Amino acid sequence: MSKNKIALIGGGNIGGILAVLSAQREFGDIAIVDIFDGVAAGKALDIMQSNAADGINTKLSGTTDYSNIDGADVVIVTAGFPRKEGMSRDDLLQKNAEVVRIVGKNIKERAPDAFVIVVTNPLDIMVGIMQDATGFAQSKVVGMAGILDGSRFKTFLAEKLNVAVSDIQSFVLGGHGDSMVPLPRYTTIAGIPLQHFIDKGKISEAELDAIIVRTRKGGGEIISLMKTSAYFAPAASALKMAKAYLNDERSILPCAAYLKGEYGVKGLYVGVPAMIGKNGVEEIMELDLNADEKSEFEASIKSVTDLMEAARKLSL
Ligand code: APR
Repeated sequence: MSKNKIALIGGGNIGGILAVLSAQREFGDIAIVDIFDGVAAGKALDIMQSNAADGINTKLSGTTDYSNIDGADVVIVTAGFPRKEGMSRDDLLQKNAEVVRIVGKNIKERAPDAFVIVVTNPLDIMVGIMQDATGFAQSKVVGMAGILDGSRFKTFLAEKLNVAVSDIQSFVLGGHGDSMVPLPRYTTIAGIPLQHFIDKGKISEAELDAIIVRTRKGGGEIISLMKTSAYFAPAASALKMAKAYLNDERSILPCAAYLKGEYGVKGLYVGVPAMIGKNGVEEIMELDLNADEKSEFEASIKSVTDLMEAARKLSL
């Protein structure tokens, strides 16, 4: 059986951690491409040397040349600019849309059968631009956000409830922004509904609301601490999606997936639970939403649509 090939476009903070984690997990050979001369080559070499110390056989290569990604099975895109303090979403939109278009053209040429996972922000818009630039089936182009947002929600809940974070199952719906919709009603701890913990007084409604707000602002909290955006959790989250595809897991993961009428949304990438297997997105899971959840989800869709309109007006 031939080895998998994982291409990483962008070898910055997230790209570097992606390379380390995928090497350690031995998912396959890793090809990094970064426009910044020396970054991809240097990181590939450094990680290969750390693999030698650890007795790991994963091969890495890094360059500015897109031929490095030829025939990749999975491409994870982090190329672009991270949000810094004081930067508007629109600043990021213009700059990163240009980058994602160029990257998409190269993926189309070099890795036509790849499953593409976009991480570059603003996520929901960038994944749409990537699908357009590659012309790939919508099921083969997805965005990473929901696993990250869900992981933040789980972290805060586990801390408050003093339970194992691995016991928590949850979903976050909608766009990857302040209007995302964490779903307490679809949250369980070792299969026990979160409501049980509320009823037992382990967490109050007010504390849960505060956790939801903190989750929505989770990215900003890290930016204000590190002065640049998060990289460990985004990398781990994107790899979870890559693994589901490579191993044909049929895992149900919250992803930015293309909606064709599900949740009443047509022609837009939005965060929903999606089953990932060997064909990419195999199925979108449609949850029954109550009136409050529905109106929060609609508000989130509206903010994605507004940003999409702004993207259409850009000269690209
Ligand atoms: N082609 C290839 N690489 C590029 C290009 C391009 N056209 N433009 C920029 N890059 C590279 C940069 O040289 C840099 O090494 O993308 C890398 C981005 O890395 P960082 O600046 O460290 O950003 P990171 O924290 O990894 O975030 C990347 O993911 O979560 C999002 O908001 C985040 O949009 C940002 C992206």
